[in-house]
Amino acid sequence: MANSAIRISTAIRERIPPLTSIPLPVGVDRRILQKRWPVTAFATPPAGSGLRPVLGDAGAPLIGHTFELMHYGPEFHLRRQQSYGPVSWVSAFGQRIVVLSGPDAAQAALVNGDKAFSQDGWAYFIGRFFPRGLMLMDFGEHHLHRRIMQDAFRRERVAGYVDQMGPSIRSGVMAWATRPRVRLYWAIKHLTLDVAARVFMTMEGDARSERLNRAFVSAVRAGTAVVRAPLPGGRWAAGLAGRRVLEQYFAQALPAKRRVDDGDLFSALCQARTDDGDRFTDADVINHMIFLMMAAHDTTTITSTAAAYYLARHPEWQDRARTETLRLGDDLPDLQSLEQLHTLDLVIKESLRLVPPVPSLARRVIRDTDVLGHYVPAGALVSISPTGSHFDPECWTDPRAFDPERFNDQRREDKAHRYAWMPFGGGAHKCIGLHFGTLEVKLLLHEMLRTSQWHVPAGYEARWDHTALPVPVDGLPVTLTRR
Ligand code: HEM
Repeated sequence: MANSAIRISTAIRERIPPLTSIPLPVGVDRRILQKRWPVTAFATPPAGSGLRPVLGDAGAPLIGHTFELMHYGPEFHLRRQQSYGPVSWVSAFGQRIVVLSGPDAAQAALVNGDKAFSQDGWAYFIGRFFPRGLMLMDFGEHHLHRRIMQDAFRRERVAGYVDQMGPSIRSGVMAWATRPRVRLYWAIKHLTLDVAARVFMTMEGDARSERLNRAFVSAVRAGTAVVRAPLPGGRWAAGLAGRRVLEQYFAQALPAKRRVDDGDLFSALCQARTDDGDRFTDADVINHMIFLMMAAHDTTTITSTAAAYYLARHPEWQDRARTETLRLGDDLPDLQSLEQLHTLDLVIKESLRLVPPVPSLARRVIRDTDVLGHYVPAGALVSISPTGSHFDPECWTDPRAFDPERFNDQRREDKAHRYAWMPFGGGAHKCIGLHFGTLEVKLLLHEMLRTSQWHVPAGYEARWDHTALPVPVDGLPVTLTRR
């Protein structure tokens, strides 16, 4: 395994551009990036364990490698993997973090055979605003809640959500087609919020849903607040206020949803039960609803934006996808129709590989463990990065190229390793909304393909801000031509 890690990192080295060739944020001195920091061990392995230490470096005093991580995102991870292999440590965001990169290291943590990796790693980032969401639960409790929630993601349920999403997505996309130029990321983000209001809790675009949307956005933004205290006017305080608004809304609406099943996700959680009769309490439903809004929103927005971007840059793929779309006719597509859009499947998978919306899966080590022969002590904060897997030249031919055909039945490069392609994570916490999310993205792209053609100027390359989840720095302007 260690040998394969070294082979991977050598191969990656040949392909990645030097960090210094990429523009830097204003105010950051390039010398910080060029500096070589002393290499140290994250912790000393117990004598006689035969384990190796995790090596890495702290970077600049106080800020560590925060800026490089925020600015370069995946490039930074690949560069670290090249220097240190698939298990390393870095200092960023005021934390020392063990980084697991590449399919073998990801597998070790996600399979979690010795139950050493806890979801508590997420608590620092989102625990205050999204407490007791499914992703923050561990082991037995998580297993029970996941079994109940699964009922809300059954195929018949998801088919119903698709039917509910259709009208909002169609009218939202139609509205863009009247504008010659659209900042796609912002347009999609706005639309997916409106769609969530409808599908998650059957609300039309009225003042109440606007208020909820604002509260929700404040809660999400607070997770990345630099000042993590409720100072008046600050992000943290706005996040707490947002959370209260959401809790109040769901608490008030809940009794009616228990009584009548509207077919939305809120009703589904109220009605969900296992074969053994386990159900969610009212508090569970509220916490899960707020978490699900968060888990679904930015991820589907980023996936749709990235896929639309690659379709803009590769008109031959846009034409091919449109041919399939037009075959479906003018009716709003249902789940079965969307499943016929094979080209969009390939494009979405490839976009998720190149721009994984969740660039780091957080874990906390709760008992000493080893990853690929490295000693990782209890208490360590861990980041599992899909980047090393998604750009691993042992799994993917020409990993930096946009090549959706790599997912077709003849090639199936994603099968090279169980964790070669992991935009939805893996193991017990693998995304429960992956079909729902993919269908929403497909529906949105299908409506775009029906109504317009879109392109970006020749030579345009999106630049992504990696401060939290990846966001195109310019909002991704595209030129739309109505069909
Ligand atoms: C393309 C869109 C999406 C992507 C890329 C995505 C990605 C992910 C990833 C990487 C995880 C694993 C996190 C971890 O291991 O710590 C996850 C978990 C989760 N996702 Fe998604 N997600 C998407 C859409 C959705 C949607 C639409 C929903 C719900 C409506 C959803 C609900 C969840 C939940 C509840 C979890 C936690 C599962 C558990 O802990 O058992 N996601 N997602």
